[in-house]
Amino acid sequence: MASLIPKTSFRRHTVDGVLVIGGGLAGISAALAAAPTRVLLISPTHLGDGASSAWAQGGVAVAKGPDDSPDRHAEDTVKVGAGLCDLDRVALLAREGPQALQRLVDLGVPFDRGPDGAFVQGLEAAHSRARVARVKGDQAGRAIMAAAISALRAASHVTIWEGARLRRLVQTQHGRVCGAVIDRGHGPVVVLASAVVLATGGIGGLFACTTTPAEVRGEGLGMAALAGAQIRDPEFVQFHPTAMAFGRDPAPLASEALRGEGARLVDASGVPLFADGDLHPRDVVARRLHRLMQSGQRAFLDARTAIGADFPTQFPTVFAACMAEGLDPRISLIPVAPAVHYHMGGVETDAQGATTRPGLYAAGECAAVGVHGANRLASNSLLEAAVFGHRAGLAASRDTHPIGFGDIATETLAPFPDLPDQDLQKLRNTMSREVGVQRDAAGLERALVVISELEELHGQGPILAAARLIVAAALARTESRGAHFRRDHPQPHAQARSTRMTLPTRTAAFAPMEA
Ligand code: SIN
Repeated sequence: MASLIPKTSFRRHTVDGVLVIGGGLAGISAALAAAPTRVLLISPTHLGDGASSAWAQGGVAVAKGPDDSPDRHAEDTVKVGAGLCDLDRVALLAREGPQALQRLVDLGVPFDRGPDGAFVQGLEAAHSRARVARVKGDQAGRAIMAAAISALRAASHVTIWEGARLRRLVQTQHGRVCGAVIDRGHGPVVVLASAVVLATGGIGGLFACTTTPAEVRGEGLGMAALAGAQIRDPEFVQFHPTAMAFGRDPAPLASEALRGEGARLVDASGVPLFADGDLHPRDVVARRLHRLMQSGQRAFLDARTAIGADFPTQFPTVFAACMAEGLDPRISLIPVAPAVHYHMGGVETDAQGATTRPGLYAAGECAAVGVHGANRLASNSLLEAAVFGHRAGLAASRDTHPIGFGDIATETLAPFPDLPDQDLQKLRNTMSREVGVQRDAAGLERALVVISELEELHGQGPILAAARLIVAAALARTESRGAHFRRDHPQPHAQARSTRMTLPTRTAAFAPMEA
């Protein structure tokens, strides 16, 4: 039997309510929805820094126009999801979109409006209608996060710990998630809570080339899996076709909204890459660009005519990123290349955000609630974070479950090993090379060998667990579907099936902590 951990070994903190892990839009939506239940929200960085939500350029897809409806929005979402969306969840997402948008308006988000006061609605790839609510062209993520953070800071039921990193989910001897080990820079603290909402973002930083903050590297996903939660569809990683190819890590994004406004994808001689328009689903465009680049050519976005002189006001973020590289997009082509942008897979949840582990909820990019399937529709991610973050916060606030420190299983307090920077970089390069836009069995097996070697060296931790789940699922899916393309299996199977995986746990052998 494992030795008992004396009660003096860790500093302790009890939340009489919900622990929310993550300070992006999903985490903040959950925290606000939980009121008046008390919430402790932890963020590894100063709020707003290091959250993918703040980097979102597109906006929030919501059916509001006179020629639009939630049903149409749901249809577009399901079509892009390539057979793996849960229809009822997608219907929920589309139906609750207008309320979620109104909550953001109520927080003070200054969405772009026309002279009649109606939302300006942008068009993005694979939407049959223009339905993306934006802020100053490409500033939606930043503006939404600014308003959400102000509301969070003003909420009397919320305590915020910034610079606090999740080190491990804590469980009872029966496997219920009852808190977390948190590192605030001066030793671990065991935080106990009635329920935990995981809103840790995606997996971009597991790859060398990403449009997301590099610190977001699947740790939440890995922690949940190591706690025994079921993971769904981890092989589905979205590659955004138009990351700007300036050699930066992370790569700045050239929003799809540029193409919605008429910018064209061209080769080095200015010849359009798509004769039939540039707003195909992201996976289709990313593969076209990837193949072009594999043949030694380069791809560019030509916004000179479509945006031209309006660039600084219409797309200030993209404009600033180009100018910082000495490239004026009003007169020059923007070099672009596919980069990891979003994870459709994640910790499986129900419509209330509950995972398969009692006490553990998940929302936002780390979760798989079933709305994105094999490929996410543009600007559905902020929407999903707002709708299902809210739902998860409500459900977690009602999941009252008093837990004492004596209930904790000691094994769940042991910190996971860190992955040294050099080996993290090795992993990122391997993932980009072998688990990218196009995959095959040989490359995926090579990636698994690297992951096993790193596990051998450093032990199993959440980053390697997340990488393993993605690669193992990609290897097992011997078909091409949505964002997952197998060179050696280029066709889809007749029947679409979701992947569901769990990692082995030793919950039954957990030893109690000395009370
Ligand atoms: C974009 O602006 O192209 C990205 C929006 C999204 O990922 O939904």
